[in-house]
Amino acid sequence: MANYKRILVTAALPYANGPVHIGHLAGCYLPADIYVRYQRAQKRDVKFVCGSDEHGVPITIRAMKEGITPQQVVDKYHALIRDSFAQMNISFDIYSRTSNQIHHQTASDFFKNLYDKGLFEEKETEQYYDETAKTFLADRYITGTCPVCANPNAYGDQCERCGSSLSPEQLINPRSTLSDATPIKKKTKHWYFPLQNYEPWLKKWILEDHKEWKNNVYGQCKSWLDNGLQPRAMTRDSKWGVKVPLPDAEGKVLYVWFDAPIGYISATKELTEQWADYWCKEDTKLVHFIGKDNIVFHAIIFPAMLKAHGDFVLPDNVPANEFLNIEGEKVSTSRNWAVWVHEYIKDFPGCEDVLRYVLCANAPETKDNDFTWKDFQDRNNSELVAIFGNFVNRAMVLMHKLCGGKVPVLHPSLLDESDKTLVKEIELTKSKIESGLEQYKFRDALFEVIDLARKGNKYLQDKEPWKKASAIEKLADKSSPEAKILQQEIDNCLHICLQLTANLAIFINPFLPDTAKKMLHLLKVVEKMLDWQNAGSMKLLSAGYSLRAPELLFRKIEDEEIKLQVEKLKNNMVKPVSNEPQATTKEPEAQASNLKTEIVFDDFAKIDLKVGTILSAEKVEKADKLLKLEVDMGFEKRTIVSGIALHFKPEEIVGKQVVVVANLAPRKMRGIESNGMILMAEDKEGKLHFVNPSEKINEGAGVN
Ligand code: 2FM
Ligand code: ZN
Repeated sequence: MANYKRILVTAALPYANGPVHIGHLAGCYLPADIYVRYQRAQKRDVKFVCGSDEHGVPITIRAMKEGITPQQVVDKYHALIRDSFAQMNISFDIYSRTSNQIHHQTASDFFKNLYDKGLFEEKETEQYYDETAKTFLADRYITGTCPVCANPNAYGDQCERCGSSLSPEQLINPRSTLSDATPIKKKTKHWYFPLQNYEPWLKKWILEDHKEWKNNVYGQCKSWLDNGLQPRAMTRDSKWGVKVPLPDAEGKVLYVWFDAPIGYISATKELTEQWADYWCKEDTKLVHFIGKDNIVFHAIIFPAMLKAHGDFVLPDNVPANEFLNIEGEKVSTSRNWAVWVHEYIKDFPGCEDVLRYVLCANAPETKDNDFTWKDFQDRNNSELVAIFGNFVNRAMVLMHKLCGGKVPVLHPSLLDESDKTLVKEIELTKSKIESGLEQYKFRDALFEVIDLARKGNKYLQDKEPWKKASAIEKLADKSSPEAKILQQEIDNCLHICLQLTANLAIFINPFLPDTAKKMLHLLKVVEKMLDWQNAGSMKLLSAGYSLRAPELLFRKIEDEEIKLQVEKLKNNMVKPVSNEPQATTKEPEAQASNLKTEIVFDDFAKIDLKVGTILSAEKVEKADKLLKLEVDMGFEKRTIVSGIALHFKPEEIVGKQVVVVANLAPRKMRGIESNGMILMAEDKEGKLHFVNPSEKINEGAGVN
């Protein structure tokens, strides 16, 4: 924390177009909350801001689907999301919303500031327009065939199969999702932010000055910067959003990714009159917690906007987590493959900390991780119940049994090595947790807490104070020097265990705040004890102080509860519409509604499909998704660039036979001419599979 006087923590503003699921919590809200709670315990000046992102295409799409207005959508989901966060004890200082007047004003002023400096490039371009729906089409409203992998349902901004970022112009056979009409091109004017001008500065600021950023964040930034930045339109044709504050901008709003991050500033303004201290003073540490899909916006675009504006501080760090899958499958809100936070709260009342625990212990900090209900149960039963809860409970029960319900006195002269080692461990744990949390390594930090409780259990097990108690029982003279020493050893053991319990309350507090509160209640101490400066102390509880009767901190989670959750997940999954009876419970790979327009035989006959064999494969430089293949077609050898690099390693596919669209016009990709396209089958998880003859046949054979 050197050199910083205050900390401003932001968590990505969730779109108010649906409830939040546990992947959202694990991705950014929970780590942000742990970080903030820790900083508060350190008595640092910290503010934690968030709110609903209420503009943009996702909201308007949801309104369209539900047949209601965008305002009704955001009102409904803002309340649901806000309440889910509150119930999960995500302790925002403010949870605002971007539809608030203060935000419209702040975002508008920000835009005007850049405009007045002459920073925007005004460009008239031709954009897709739906004549039936009488509206310009945002990129997400256009679907078509991906030029890289031939996915017929790629979006105008991205192909979700091969991951390529696209522009609508690149789509083959574009269609409007509003009316299914083929959109026409129509002229429209927009204001572009020249990101490329900030490239040299960004390169230095990120690649040289922020080498400490997490690998996933740094890596994504590097790849964007290596590929070169382009001007980005910061306005859109839409009726929903912050109006462009210019006279000649009727029907135009700010691009949602321009206005949303400014929401952090507006929320701070709404929170405190001292907002400018947090945004404009260099000794503020600004930290944006986000999910991995938000990296470029927070690490490149927003910082460039802030730099261009000039009045604001830049983020010190942008910790981003990867994604959390559910039971081995990617979360899909459209298929309802998700664990919704508001439902969890209903199904497991009083178990909010259990979810916080599991999501932190299994957080996707460095790679995508999997949430399974079985793991949820195991972690609860064998870590929270059997280690942490068990230690605290044993310490409390034994203190009542062997020390009269009071904190026993410590007898320093009788302390042995194992007592001293445990005391040392408490101090060590404190510094390990601190270093984990300061470096955004929340799993490691949580592990240290559990490990300390584990050591407490082992200590108790080794000391066996109950045996000493029965030894006293067996003595004829209970006030003999021997009995006295035995009791003093018991007292030492329980004294240390209770001080450890108090320390565990401080350590667990940022992670599991409800549990820490329950521990305060058991120990009859006030919240002040949880101040971080108290951690490591062996004087948290005074000798002679009587404590409450033990109560369990966690309950066991039964197999039946887990079974119900797994069934619920599977039963609630939205099945694709199909008239065909389903042979299996597996989701069919294609839906009737996904089929393209009917064609006649002559259309099909135009496509020349041939079998080829992959002779070699190599990665294409600076293109994560592309492989350059040499394919033996029998009559010639071809170079084909294919968007399959995320699915196969080059060495795995050499020798494989493939079906090639052999008469596709050559296309340049990353400077390499691609002559043809290989066919792949895609399953519902988006995984690609080879489509090839069942046994090896001669190259050049036709596929009809
Ligand atoms: O990905 C999302 O859910 C966006 N609504 C995040 C916005 S973060 C910030 F910029 F407001
Ligand atoms: Zn694609």
